[in-house]
Amino acid sequence: MSPVSAEAAADPVAAERPHLRPGSGRVESLLARFHQIRDFTNALCAGLEPEDCVVQSMPDVSPTKWHLAHTTWFFETFILKKFSPGYRSEIPQYAYLFNSYYNAAGDMHRRDLRGLISRPTVREAKRYRASIDSHIDNLLSKADEKVLDEIEPILILGFHHEQQHQELLVTDIKHVFAQNPLYPVFRERKTEARSLAKPGSQSSPLPFLDFEETIAAIGHDGRGFSYDNEEPRHRALVPAFSLATRPVTNGEYMAFIEDNGYVRPGVWLSLGWMTVNEQRWEAPLYWTKHDGRWWNFTLSVFRPVDESEPVTHVSYFEADAYSNWAGARLPTEFEWERAALDCPIEGNFVDYENFHPHALSNSGNNKGLHQMFGDVWEWTRSAYSPYPGYRAGPGALGEYNGKFMCNQYVLRGGSCATSRSHIRRTYRNFFQPEKRWQFTGIRLARDPH
Ligand SMILES: [Fe+2]
Repeated sequence: MSPVSAEAAADPVAAERPHLRPGSGRVESLLARFHQIRDFTNALCAGLEPEDCVVQSMPDVSPTKWHLAHTTWFFETFILKKFSPGYRSEIPQYAYLFNSYYNAAGDMHRRDLRGLISRPTVREAKRYRASIDSHIDNLLSKADEKVLDEIEPILILGFHHEQQHQELLVTDIKHVFAQNPLYPVFRERKTEARSLAKPGSQSSPLPFLDFEETIAAIGHDGRGFSYDNEEPRHRALVPAFSLATRPVTNGEYMAFIEDNGYVRPGVWLSLGWMTVNEQRWEAPLYWTKHDGRWWNFTLSVFRPVDESEPVTHVSYFEADAYSNWAGARLPTEFEWERAALDCPIEGNFVDYENFHPHALSNSGNNKGLHQMFGDVWEWTRSAYSPYPGYRAGPGALGEYNGKFMCNQYVLRGGSCATSRSHIRRTYRNFFQPEKRWQFTGIRLARDPH
């Protein structure tokens, strides 16, 4: 994880964190994790100016300031208001402004109007964060084991919730900066990011790995944290299939574009074809053509598209069309999970602060699957639906996942904006098929010949 920003380190509230009583290892480790995650959010914002933090460039994007306050509201609403005796909100109206979609927690401000809210200011939002952090410190340091038993699962949900918003914060600020002709730099590009592969080098032919038919155990096994949408664990028949050993590269995707992929209705889903034409898509989001060459807006620099990097910022529609054009298909989420069983959860995560997918290094020529985790989320052809036996939980937190199980597709594996400690083999991300502002990419699958 990145070092705490200078601003957070100088935070007077943080400096007064309570001295914990001896023997309170459980509290210490929970608070250590709490502050590590909260501090990483602050560190992500370290290079941003207040003007950067208030822009909403499209309805899907939330201003940075909103992410800072909403993640704080989560801890205030679901922990402090419930477990801290006599707790009173300093500014009760924040409950309306910073509730996202939890109907059972009360009314909320319109999502598409978040960019119109100039108050609270960024400074006030940061003060709100520090104040709630201090209340959490105090609550946990005084809580007995019984209360901790109740708080701990919600606190851990809050950790993962904040990590999800860290990813959104990164992808949202990318979209905000991309609207600016000055192409602001979010973070300077690291030297080692360039040394992994020769820029512009051609990727090797795409190998596939064969998998036999099996009845796979799908879903979370209950050890450690998971979201409710990963349960119940159940058996699923996964017929024989082949999976590409790496994601599709920019170079391969360019061949699709040059072969008129975006103007061939035959490879597109009907809804995808409508979307391509309505939106006038000609390439992945953030690609621009200059003097006959494709350029790419990244969080570090505006530069020519590197053909060896995994293609990213493509919608489900584009992923599906590319797969058809390539004579393949997208994997199901069950195929992906079965294939990921033996893959170590390592890769280019946000922890390394590259904020961009990496080209596969030369070791990628080895047999086996590569880049299953990190770099780019991989679209699957599985609709985001409940697993057999799934029931959303009661109350506001039951709204976390279940109510979105309609008109979305599952993505797997995490991206360069995902935290390593956030992702799992059973993790189900989901987005509507036309969305492409997340770091979304393509891994091909094939049926047996
Ligand atoms: Fe949220």
